[in-house]
Amino acid sequence: MVRVRGDTMNPILYTIMAALWLMLPAYITNASAAWFGGKTRVDRGRYWGKNRLLGDGKTYEGLLMGTSCGFLFGIVQELFLSDYLAIIPSFGIFPFFLVTLFCLAAGAMVGDLVGSFLKRRMGLERGVSLPVVDQLDFVGGAWLLLFLGARTWFIETFSVQIIVAVLCITPVLHLFTNYIGFKIGKKKVPW
Ligand code: CTP
Ligand code: MG
Repeated sequence: MVRVRGDTMNPILYTIMAALWLMLPAYITNASAAWFGGKTRVDRGRYWGKNRLLGDGKTYEGLLMGTSCGFLFGIVQELFLSDYLAIIPSFGIFPFFLVTLFCLAAGAMVGDLVGSFLKRRMGLERGVSLPVVDQLDFVGGAWLLLFLGARTWFIETFSVQIIVAVLCITPVLHLFTNYIGFKIGKKKVPW
């Protein structure tokens, strides 16, 4: 069994790995929403002023499948995969990690909704790019819900270094996965 041990690892590499590990449920949530995104629009086609409330890109199928996949993947990480990564941070003790993972997954979807809401208020149509918001809205939502629902764990686990790493890595990863999503026809635009 290959064990990655943090105490013998380069600290920068460890921070990057911890950041990826901790945000993976939110990344899976986002990707699954795009993969399973369906038809039942959250705003039911309604407008607010001249623009749509949220737009055609926000559906209940995306919300439910995204949140479920991210949450379940997090459980697999905590219960099974963490054995292979000896000192990687935990999502908490049972049953508390279920709350942590729910906040990460549902928070990512809330952040994504807020991002689209803001884009529509700025008059941007669905799919028009808004740098920073497009790449980090779901991170903001996940952190907000963690702060509300799992504050002690969040403050103890997300060091300043990990937060900086997440903010640097996520946009790169997001652009890369969206490009793949575009190529395989799951996303309308490559961002
Ligand atoms: N999606 C969904 N339901 C959600 C979130 C995402 O169905 N709650 C799906 C949609 O098919 C969406 C795709 O995932 O097009 C990618 O999401 P995102 O990039 O956030 O949406 P955009 O289409 O770019 O729309 P927006 O301009 O509102 O960000
Ligand atoms: Mg979005």
